[in-house]
Amino acid sequence: MALIPMEEILADANEKNYAVGGFNINNLEALQAIIEAAEAEQAPIILQTSEGAIRYINMEYAVAMAKAAAEKASVPIAFHLDHGESFAKIIECIRNDYSSVMIDGSKLPFEENIALTSKVVEAASAVGVSVEAELGQLGGVEDDVVVEEKDATLTNPDEAAEFIDKTGIDALAVAIGTAHGVYKGDPDLDFERLEKINNEVDIPLVLHGASGVPDADIARSIELGINKINVNTAFQQAFTAKMREILEDPDVYDPRKICGPAKDAMKEKVIEKIRLFGSDGKA
Ligand code: G3H
Ligand code: ZN
Repeated sequence: MALIPMEEILADANEKNYAVGGFNINNLEALQAIIEAAEAEQAPIILQTSEGAIRYINMEYAVAMAKAAAEKASVPIAFHLDHGESFAKIIECIRNDYSSVMIDGSKLPFEENIALTSKVVEAASAVGVSVEAELGQLGGVEDDVVVEEKDATLTNPDEAAEFIDKTGIDALAVAIGTAHGVYKGDPDLDFERLEKINNEVDIPLVLHGASGVPDADIARSIELGINKINVNTAFQQAFTAKMREILEDPDVYDPRKICGPAKDAMKEKVIEKIRLFGSDGKA
């Protein structure tokens, strides 16, 4: 199968009320873990790279890896730019065959976010690439996206409808109290706000910073219209914890004996999230 636009994957999720994982890759083993999990669970997936991951992996390698995975896989796969910050980066990804992009204008004033996002939608839709955008701003750290808690803002439900109307995006990332990275305390999600947003808009909603969100809150979010859930930190933690355990043995030096089991640990975590999101068996 070739890479497909995210829009196609999310249309089914939106209709049947489940969520698809927006799973970040940072190296080959992460890609293998996600694909193996998706195949085992027969789940559609959205593979994504941040701008930092592209710098680390290299654009050509990242795209070649995603394309090879999609060609071999029996499940639908979209390849998505996560938190794209500039029009130039969006165009670079489109030219390199990404099937979906996120333009993150969340730190901009409302009208400027609309202007930048509209420009991206015009370019992307001309070549069949899906667009996710963000309104409101999550706290925490995700590669280049660093937002102090005091600067985090929640999505305004009235602005959400206007934003979608004026930009024509395919999916909207909402800020309802989640944060990127490791949580300091328990997240306190604003479900009332999510419900209002969901009542105002028709397109799939996206939850970022989902790693530390309790399972019950994830389930409630899906009931209230979340159709894409981004996870990165939880996978990195599973991978690294296994590596630490193996490296306690000073005689281990073969990277395959370190990264292989770490990949398997990450795969288990991906399977757990796929089942929690209800996307198992939806391929
Ligand atoms: O865009 C990616 C995500 O929002 C991942 O957040 O690292 O907290 O799971 P996380
Ligand atoms: Zn994010």
